[in-house]
Order: sequence, then structure tokens, then C-alpha cells
Amino acid sequence: MPVPPTSGRLQWTDVPPPLRARLEDALGTPVTDTVTPAGGFGHQLAAALRLADGRRVFVKAAPDDDPLTASNVHEAAVLDALPPGAPAPDLLGIHRAADWTAVVIAHLDGPHPDLSPASSDAWPTWALLDKLTSSPAPAPYTTAVSTAPSTAAALHGWDELATAPPPDLAPTARAHLSQLAELEAAWPALAHGDRIVHGDLRADNMVRDRSQGVTFVDWAHATTGPACIDAASLAPQLILAGHAPADIATLLQEHLAASNPDTTTAFLAALTGHWHRNARKPAPPGAPGLRTYQHRAGAAGLALLGYRLDETLVQ
Ligand SMILES: Nc1ncnc2c1ncn2[C@@H]1O[C@H](COP(=O)(O)OP(=O)(O)O)[C@@H](O)[C@H]1O
Ligand SMILES: [Mg+2]
Repeated sequence: MPVPPTSGRLQWTDVPPPLRARLEDALGTPVTDTVTPAGGFGHQLAAALRLADGRRVFVKAAPDDDPLTASNVHEAAVLDALPPGAPAPDLLGIHRAADWTAVVIAHLDGPHPDLSPASSDAWPTWALLDKLTSSPAPAPYTTAVSTAPSTAAALHGWDELATAPPPDLAPTARAHLSQLAELEAAWPALAHGDRIVHGDLRADNMVRDRSQGVTFVDWAHATTGPACIDAASLAPQLILAGHAPADIATLLQEHLAASNPDTTTAFLAALTGHWHRNARKPAPPGAPGLRTYQHRAGAAGLALLGYRLDETLVQ
């Protein structure tokens, strides 16, 4: 496998010239400029291309023997199968040359939404989620995701941490390790469902597009599952953005009133365990900031779990 860049992402100039030529041919005009947006932890090319005719498109690309190519191809199949009106950009094409694959996606114009209490961006995000999960996923979507195992269903961490608790584990987590491991162990059996699941919902996987409003991007982990997955993933992000954990715990409960609360708690335990376990692993190449993020997200998830368990598990 090619060695990914040690910091940051592959750039347009790293793409083999035959694939660049193929893309320009398919787009019908030369690429005049590229912008790599901040955000995300992937090392593949993920860039906005400005074209000579004034248009912009978004491209994700990697070598074919890099696992991110399979993710990008999965994302392309998902974008193609999402129902009309889903908060996602359109797929424009897939191109292959010189043992690389590029996925071309409609460009969204705007910043990441601001999920802090000072902004109102968080509310349309909840509304989008409610709409997305209000009915079962359509058949083409279910078929598109059926070939990839659900990364959400595979989340865990407390099991390993309980076996060998690291010295820097938050005392409250240490005190509740067996309970957290038990909750997490219940998750795989509850992880199945028929709703659309984005599977990686964070502010950096959303764009507040000037005309479409908040739109979800980076559908590489999309799957089907219970409606709680995306809502319970969004909740710790709001805490990281400055909201009070107690407020977010209430909000999550309101939005998932129709869902089984045990499923939500089991998912949150598995997600938080994943963060606590992975935060302690060596940093992977090409993903600076990932471990710091996981430490912070793990603390936010634990605070939220505390409210669901009627205890305060904050660090
Ligand atoms: N269609 C799009 N239009 C404009 N910007 C986008 C688009 N899709 C993603 N982005 C921006 O590019 C960044 C990286 O893309 P993303 O799909 O999240 O890749 P990764 O899997 O590497 O995180 C996102 O954080 C977002 O800022
Ligand atoms: Mg991303």
C-alpha cells in the first residue's frame, strides 16, 4: 500500500496525470484552481476544483490499493441511491485511471455549520435528521449499503479498557467500567434497523450551502440501522461545540421519543468506548488531530451517558 502523507491530505498534484487528464476530459474544461477545505481526518484527496468555465466540483480520490478508495466508491453508490430531497450533494461521476479512482460530487458552497449555542445552525440539523429517519430507507439505498459492513454496529471499546484499564482513564469511567462494558455488549444485537444512517455526523461532515442550507457530506460510513445512531452521534458534537450536557441529554430524549431508549444508551456506550479506546492508540499517519479529538469526544460522550444513567460521569 502506498504510504499516506504524514500530515494533511493528498493534493491535486499528487493525482497521477492520466487521471487528472481523464477528469478534465469528463468535465469538458481544464481545472484552474483547487482548494482543500479544512476538516476531516482522511488522507485522500478531498478538494474543490475550480474549472476554467467558472464551475466548481468536489473530488475525492485515492490510489486503488488504499482502503479509502473502497470508502469513496461506497460513498458514491450511497449518493446515487439516496432518496430525492435527502440532505446530500449529487453524485456527478466516478473515474478511474493509473490505478487511482476519483469520485466527482456536486460542489456545496459555504462553511461548516456552527453548532455552538451562539448559532442557530444546530436546529435545522435536527430537523433534517428527523425527516431522514421518519420512514424506512428506500430499496435502492438498502441495496447500495448492503455490500459494506456497518461501522456503527462494530463500535466498541470498554471491553478492552475493562481488561487492562489505562492509568489515565477518567476516575468516573474506571468506577463504572463493568457497567459501561455491559451496556456496550448489548449494542450489536440492537444495531439493526431499516432507517438511513449517515454514520459519521460531525460539523466537518456538513456544509451550510448558500442555497440548500445545511447538507450532510462524507457518506462513506452510511448504512441502515435504528434511527438513534445519527442523533446520538450528533449529541456529543453539540457538547463539544459548547452546549451544556444536561440540555443536550434532554434534547436527545425529545428527538428520540419514538425510539427504544435502551438502544440509544447502548449505542452511546459503544461510541464512547470506541473514542476512549482509540484516543489511546498511536496517531495514524495522515490524520493529525484525530487522537486529541477522540479524547475530547470521549469526555463529551461520557457526560451524556451520565445523564442517561442518572449519574454524573463527567471527567
Ligand atoms: N460536496 C462538497 N462540496 C464542498 N465541500 C465539501 C463537499 N464535500 C465535502 N466537502 C468539504 O471537504 C471536507 C472533506 O470532505 P469529506 O467528504 O468529509 O472527506 P473525508 O472523508 O476525508 O473527511 C469536508 O469536511 C467539507 O469541508
Ligand atoms: Mg469528513
